[in-house]
Amino acid sequence: MNSNWSILIILNNYLHDVATAVLLSSAVILSVLGRQAKTGGEGEKRAFARAYRTLTRFAAGALVWIVLGGIPRTIFFTQFEFIPADTKGIVADLIIKHVLLVSAVVAGGVMWIRLGKLARGFAAADETERSIRG
Ligand code: HEM
Repeated sequence: MNSNWSILIILNNYLHDVATAVLLSSAVILSVLGRQAKTGGEGEKRAFARAYRTLTRFAAGALVWIVLGGIPRTIFFTQFEFIPADTKGIVADLIIKHVLLVSAVVAGGVMWIRLGKLARGFAAADETERSIRG
């Protein structure tokens, strides 16, 4: 493969990992803010409801990036990663790792949907309170 294309594939593969880190960190931040909103006061609830929207955008972008970037990574896997993976005998491990990663993403998705309901509840309560106060 032309070396200009190689750079793009290597960059794409790296960004697949970076997007995974973005997805994981937004889930951790959401979970921490969600916990604080449950036990905290009005300020925490409002901060959580506002952060929910931004974090959801980040996470959705990261997930789309992971899946789309995973396609060229898979196509060029035999040229860039398969030979070392094959010689190291870790192809099955890589598959198992992806089963775990995808399960973690599904579990994170369930948490996300639950916290989304909570965030929308807080946002609605905040709106009502503001309209009562005028
Ligand atoms: C949706 C959840 C996914 C997550 C969190 C994820 C995460 C990762 C991570 C962290 C690596 C680096 C592993 C390492 O270097 O040791 C990786 C590698 C890779 N990913 Fe994904 N990935 C996901 C989905 C996909 C999808 C949908 C595809 C294919 C369309 C894909 C194709 C690949 C390939 C070919 C590799 C290189 C081989 C390997 O290390 O397993 N991934 N992925």
